[in-house]
Amino acid sequence: MKGKIESLRQAFEAELGQTATSEAVEKLRVAYLGKKGSVTELLKGLKGAGADQKKELGQHINQLKRQVEERLAQQVETIKAAEIQREIDAAEVYDVTLPTGGESGSYHPITIVQRQLEEIFASMGFIVEDFKEIVTDYECFEAVNIPKDHPARDMQDTYYLENGQLLKTHTSAAQNAILRKYGAPVRAIFPGRCFRNEATDASHENTFFQMEGIMVDKNISISNLIYFMKTMLSQVFERDVKVRLRPGFFPFVEPGFELDISCLICGGEGCSTCHHSGWVELCPCGMIHPNVLKAGGVDPEEYTGFAFGLGLTRLVMMKYGVKDIRDLNSGNLKALSQFRHE
Ligand code: DAH
Repeated sequence: MKGKIESLRQAFEAELGQTATSEAVEKLRVAYLGKKGSVTELLKGLKGAGADQKKELGQHINQLKRQVEERLAQQVETIKAAEIQREIDAAEVYDVTLPTGGESGSYHPITIVQRQLEEIFASMGFIVEDFKEIVTDYECFEAVNIPKDHPARDMQDTYYLENGQLLKTHTSAAQNAILRKYGAPVRAIFPGRCFRNEATDASHENTFFQMEGIMVDKNISISNLIYFMKTMLSQVFERDVKVRLRPGFFPFVEPGFELDISCLICGGEGCSTCHHSGWVELCPCGMIHPNVLKAGGVDPEEYTGFAFGLGLTRLVMMKYGVKDIRDLNSGNLKALSQFRHE
C-alpha cells in the first residue's frame, strides 16, 4: 500500500508538470481528488484494513491529499502569472521619446482661433480669464439681469443638474465673478464652452464656444465698442469683412446690438449656414446694464462699460469655410487635420 501511495505521488507530480492551463489543472484535481479520483479511491480502499493499518496508512494518504491540494493551488498561481507575463510581452511598447513617423498632430481649429484672439486682445491690454463650465443660476442668469421667471430665459434652453446648478449657456455667466475679482477699471476676455439643448443642424450644436469680453472704465461709450470690434475682426480675418450693427435685445446690455458679418461661406449670396440671409450673427454686444455693474460691485454712476459675446465657433466656421458646425465636435480627423499647418 505504501508503495502505491508513493507511486501515485510520483505520477501526480509528473502529470502536474505537464499542465499549462487552469483547465488542465482542474482536470487533474478531479482525477486525483474527485469522487472517483485516485486518492479518494485509496481512502475508500482502507475500509477493509485493520485498525492499526487504517491509522498509519490513513495518515500517509491524507498527507498525500494535502500535498496534492497544495501543489494544485501553486500550479494555478504559476499559470496565472505566466499568462499575465505573456500579455505584457505581447503588448505594444511605445517609446514616447521617439520622433513621429512624419505626420504630426495639430491643434483643433477652435484652439487655433481662440489663441489668436487671445493674442489680439492681450495686445490691446485685455487679461484672459478662464471660467468653469458648471455654474449657478445666479451666475448664469440673475447676476446678468435675468431674474427668475424672466422670459429671456426661454431663449436659452438650459441643461439643469439635479443639484440646481447648470451647464453654462453663455460666457456672460463669468461676468459677475470677473467684475468682483478685478473691480473697475477692467478689460478682460473669457473664452469658454457653452451648452444648450438645441436641435442640431448645420449651424446649431448643443455644445459650442463663445468668447466674452468686457471693458469697464470711466467714460466708455459705444464708439469704444465699435473700435474694438472692428480691430478684432480685421485682424482675425486678415481682410475687410462687411459688418452691420443692428439693435438687439439682451437683458444684460442697454443699448444692445447684433453685430453681423456678411456670410463668408457663400459671399453673402445665401446658404444653409446663414439661413439664406447672406448675414451671420457673430458678435452680439452692447453697453453693460447698470444692474450688472451693481451686481458685480461696480458703481454705475462712476463707471460704464461694454460687453460682447463673440460666437467663437461661428467665427471659426467663417474663417475656415466650415459648412457644418457638427464637424467641429465630431472628432473626425479627416475634417480636423486640415488645419495642421495653421
Ligand atoms: N450671452 C449672449 C448669448 O449667448 C450673447 C451676448 C450678447 C453677450 C450681448 C454679451 C452681450 O456680452 O453684450 O446669447
